Amino acid sequence: MKRFFLHTTFIILTLISISAKAQNKIGVTNLQCEMLSNPEGIDVVQPRLSWQINANVSDVKQTAYQIIVSSTLENLNANKGDLWDTGKVQSNASVNIIYNGKRLENRQNAFWKVILWTNKGEIQSVDKAHFSMGIMNYADWKSTRWIGYEKASAGDSISQYSKLSARYLRKEINLKKQVKSAKVYIMGMGLYELYINGNKIGDQVLAPVPTDYTKNVKYNVFDVTSQLKEGKNMLGTILGNGRFFTMRQDFKPYKIKTFGYPKMALQLYVEYTDGTKEVIRTDDTWKVTTNGPILSNNEYDGEEYDARKELKNWNTTNFDDKNWFQAEYVQEPGGFYEAQMTPNMKIMGEVKPISIKQTPKGTYILDMGQNMVGWLQLKVKGKSGDKVILKFAESLQADGSLYIENLRDARTTDVYTLKGEGEEIWEPTFVFHGFRFVEVSGFPTKPTLDNFVGKVVYDDIKTTGTFESSDAVMNQIFKNAYWGISGNYKGMPIDCPQRNERQPWLGDRTTGAYGESFLFDNQTLYAKWLDDIKNAQTADGGIPDVAPAFWRYYGDNVTWPGTYITVAEMLYQQFGDKKVIEKHYPSMKKWVVYMEQNYLVKDLMTKDKYGDWCVPPESLELIHSKDSARTTNGELIASAFYYHLLQKMKKFATINGNNSDDIQYYDSLSERVKTAFNVKFFNASKNNYANNTVTANLLPLAFGMVPENLQSKVFENIVHEVEVTYNGHISTGVIGTQFLMRTLSEYGRPDLSYKLASNDTYPSWGYMAKNGATTIWELWNGNTADPKMNSQNHVMLLGDLLIWYYENIAGIKSNPETPGFKQIIMKPDFETGLTFVNASYESIHGTIKSNWKKTKNNLQWNITIPANTSAIVYLPSTKVSAVTLDNKKLDKTAVSYKVENNKLILILPSGSYVLNVK
Ligand code: BGC
Repeated sequence: MKRFFLHTTFIILTLISISAKAQNKIGVTNLQCEMLSNPEGIDVVQPRLSWQINANVSDVKQTAYQIIVSSTLENLNANKGDLWDTGKVQSNASVNIIYNGKRLENRQNAFWKVILWTNKGEIQSVDKAHFSMGIMNYADWKSTRWIGYEKASAGDSISQYSKLSARYLRKEINLKKQVKSAKVYIMGMGLYELYINGNKIGDQVLAPVPTDYTKNVKYNVFDVTSQLKEGKNMLGTILGNGRFFTMRQDFKPYKIKTFGYPKMALQLYVEYTDGTKEVIRTDDTWKVTTNGPILSNNEYDGEEYDARKELKNWNTTNFDDKNWFQAEYVQEPGGFYEAQMTPNMKIMGEVKPISIKQTPKGTYILDMGQNMVGWLQLKVKGKSGDKVILKFAESLQADGSLYIENLRDARTTDVYTLKGEGEEIWEPTFVFHGFRFVEVSGFPTKPTLDNFVGKVVYDDIKTTGTFESSDAVMNQIFKNAYWGISGNYKGMPIDCPQRNERQPWLGDRTTGAYGESFLFDNQTLYAKWLDDIKNAQTADGGIPDVAPAFWRYYGDNVTWPGTYITVAEMLYQQFGDKKVIEKHYPSMKKWVVYMEQNYLVKDLMTKDKYGDWCVPPESLELIHSKDSARTTNGELIASAFYYHLLQKMKKFATINGNNSDDIQYYDSLSERVKTAFNVKFFNASKNNYANNTVTANLLPLAFGMVPENLQSKVFENIVHEVEVTYNGHISTGVIGTQFLMRTLSEYGRPDLSYKLASNDTYPSWGYMAKNGATTIWELWNGNTADPKMNSQNHVMLLGDLLIWYYENIAGIKSNPETPGFKQIIMKPDFETGLTFVNASYESIHGTIKSNWKKTKNNLQWNITIPANTSAIVYLPSTKVSAVTLDNKKLDKTAVSYKVENNKLILILPSGSYVLNVK
């Protein structure tokens, strides 16, 4: 029975809760252009500007803003917005304001600030922000030539296990006058390291981000003013293979894309203090050698480095390059040049190993204590020619040796040959590994823990979320998810970091990307990924399962390609990014129509490839279940998903301005699909769908395909399956798990979702952790399954778990009506069994906090709502008298509230509050 309250109190009053003594402190922070912390090289003509307001008082609302954008800092200081001065704009918007000033020129520098008016007074932005445009004029690249060295050298191998030595390039330049400013624009394919006068430029590693280089090529921009001097300077680069010269050259060419030998193009713009300018471009006066210390660099097989071959001072002017070749002019990669608008990878942390043990073979096994992604730095002393071999793996076998079967044919081995000159410190440059254990052989002395440091490598993005609860299993899962997600961010979200795959599979992130967005500021990463997907679309509309399509998988199904649509929605919902919806709408629609025209038969979507991928199988050794009672009909999955995606397309059409023809198209198509779906799959006598798997019932229920009067019945079937048939355990795979946790909670069984989240028996996330996982496995039975497909660091099985942590447990959710957390819905389930939760999320508007603690007769809830936002707060009580706000009886405060559906609902303006419910 629906609980309904006749008596609804609703008082609207303004809040006057500032303590008289507190000094009003309101400021503007986090000025960002295109949400980038370092916006050198903006690649859109109308970038978006955002800021945050910080305040130590509550109820702060922006009422107006003025943005001033100047071409020089002097102009900005004088409040002269020669590029753009909005004047005073009455608006509370503080994110994604579209630049609408003078046309921003090629490589234009812009300095900007914002003046705000709030209900608490006027404030000036103290921070002055800067951004610079990329090369907007393609012709500017015209006389810049691609150079490289298109041959294999002795010792290289163009085979299944390709080996190619790194390319070292150098060019001496003579700057005739004193340098006022200088910027370098570099495209180094697959990966580059750039030096000026011996110093590495930037702290990025494994740059640039990977793309399908025949479609688009990313350049990085650096301000190198301080690196250059009048007179002679040396530019040096090292080129590695990355995804350009891929790991398996002559292997499965029908499947694996490769692009050729490494190559580069670079432009250095110099402005002298006298106002004159000069551009230095790559050409065939550069010198090149492949005869350096990096003998091989293969992302999958590892790096080989011979320190005896180090080229001392090669990247300074003090070097004789007479044995080097002249660089060759080479074919350009084919793709458009674009400034990279997402951060590169960086060393984001260090891990100290926890143990080292000698094996009977005399080698050593190092345990990092954490399944991590990156590499190992080595400190070693020995003779010239001594060889240290490091072999990486995720786990050990029973006898203590490395378990490498699940790596397939990836060799994951780094080799360091010593030069024999005292203490040598080394780490690889162009590879990464997914590992917890390392087998060390050939170490010249007895190694100790001090000889090694793990370097954690992933995209240089902010961690935005914290979560802690009274449940240790849930906390460990959160930690495992954190490591798994971050490690798999490699300029694109990859499936796994260890075996011979490491591909950006779409289906692994359909809903995962949304959950991840609470933990990491993944906006620009996923925006870039949507471009990758768009670029991978076929002319007739098909979308592959992997994008960039390094593996050619154009199988035409719904659930993997559909990620194009769900990730766009995530960016809109979580970051208020409307632009992605506009930009990608035509290609998304093209795909939707393509699928309809090719695969919709009798209003059902007939094409499915993966089913409910990776359900817990009947036998612990299996990868995929063969039991028809566990698996869900592919047509059911595809049709339900297609319906679900049509709803999103309808939403996008509305966001883009009510294209009524399109809306009607989605409406009528989805009605037809829904009808056919219910006719075919609904069993009226049992009130369930198809073979009654959790997934079969869950999808139509979560997607709104079940007639209203039957919803609770269908839900009962789900509950019965979870609770009785599977004894309180998960029975879903990658598809069902995306909706499981939220649906159980939202239909009234938060205790059951909590049970699934806190289980440590098979199958569950907790089971993984209990069996030693420090990340998330690819399979529920990852400790026993066939090694053929058994990664220990995959994130796809997280489903909607993290969304549930934040939205349903912590109560931090963006109101769908006001994307980007302009209004927050704070509606935690206090009934799960948890006794406390402490969570925070750094939204684009500022940090949101929710800390609640339950005792026998009290609930205390501390919340923080960022300035210029508000929250709808749900309390588990109907009694106003039972509630205090900041130690005052609620009805004695000026806060507006109402009682609805057994809950007290408050609308709170920004601020930090302590709520107590007796
Ligand atoms: C990958 C997955 C992917 C799947 C689909 C696996 O090998 O690791 O994560 O989604 O294949 O075929």
